[in-house]
Amino acid sequence: MSQSLTIPRPDDWHLHLRDGAVLRAVLPETARHFARAIIMPNLVPPVVTAADARAYRDRIMAALPEGMDFTPLMTLYLTEDTDPADVARAHAEGLITAVKLYPAGATTNSASGVRDFDRVRGVLEAMAEAGCPLCVHGEVTDPEIDIFDREAVFIDRVLDPLRRATPGLRVIMEHITTRNGVDYVKANDAGLGGTITTHHLIINRNHLLVGGIKPHYYCLPVAKREEHRQALRAAATSGDARFFLGTDSAPHTDPNKESACGCAGCFTATNTLPLLAHVFEEERALDRLEGFASSHGPGFYGLPVNARTLTLVKSDTPTQFPDKIDTGDGPVTVFDPGFPVYWSVAG
Ligand code: DOR
Ligand code: ZN
Repeated sequence: MSQSLTIPRPDDWHLHLRDGAVLRAVLPETARHFARAIIMPNLVPPVVTAADARAYRDRIMAALPEGMDFTPLMTLYLTEDTDPADVARAHAEGLITAVKLYPAGATTNSASGVRDFDRVRGVLEAMAEAGCPLCVHGEVTDPEIDIFDREAVFIDRVLDPLRRATPGLRVIMEHITTRNGVDYVKANDAGLGGTITTHHLIINRNHLLVGGIKPHYYCLPVAKREEHRQALRAAATSGDARFFLGTDSAPHTDPNKESACGCAGCFTATNTLPLLAHVFEEERALDRLEGFASSHGPGFYGLPVNARTLTLVKSDTPTQFPDKIDTGDGPVTVFDPGFPVYWSVAG
């Protein structure tokens, strides 16, 4: 018997589109299903000024195939030299939706990120005043801290002090991977949101490491132990409006993933929504997918829920997703959940 679920068109509150040939290949994968996405600014070189964001937005729109409707919500990459006035102006004009904080060295292309948080205080204050939210990659980079503890330590050492020092700043703790992240979001008010990726609802660190290393499951923050995955599932399916979808779909070509020093990132744009339907159904919470994927994010950002809809259908036979997306720079492997999925997007 086939089953279906119609929801307002989802948005992706954390997405990597890259540039050039990869952008052209991956953009339709997102635009086919999502109305809007927060576009990560970690290009090489990064998107740091309003002028950079405008030029990148134009390249995204130029890469969008005819007939597809998609709005990129641009972000600026926070550096210790970011000009508060440039940020405030870009936000007031509607050019940017948020600013992204990468602790320097935390992840892919984060070398220009923040080392000394005192040096960005002025920008954060200007953002609080302007109502411009801060998207945060929440991991410390201290080499002494174990990679599996970096999110929990970040909350205590950086995120909580930063939020206390800048009252009124709206913050999104992105791609939370731990019970600690879930608990921190729950312990605060509506000024703090948490995004959760599709892959962190599906894999734990065993999937990454047991039976041979799986480079396509390597991402940052790295997948944690099972109890954390369970906490993320509970948060995502709870109906709590502070949790919403940010896929962190992050394409790298296969040679860059399947390498002695492989890049971090799972590419999930192609099959994210069917996978989420599967997960929410498993958790007996299909009725809450709409909140997580379609309405909590707009609520946090003060944007309207999309008027168009999207329908997911469940059939008796497993959905065949492509293994790879070809780009002019090489193939990008689509995230494989490791189990059959019977959901697909209609149309
Ligand atoms: O896995 C990740 N990939 N995590 C990040 O924070 C960055 C991203 C990327 O840009 O590839
Ligand atoms: Zn990311």
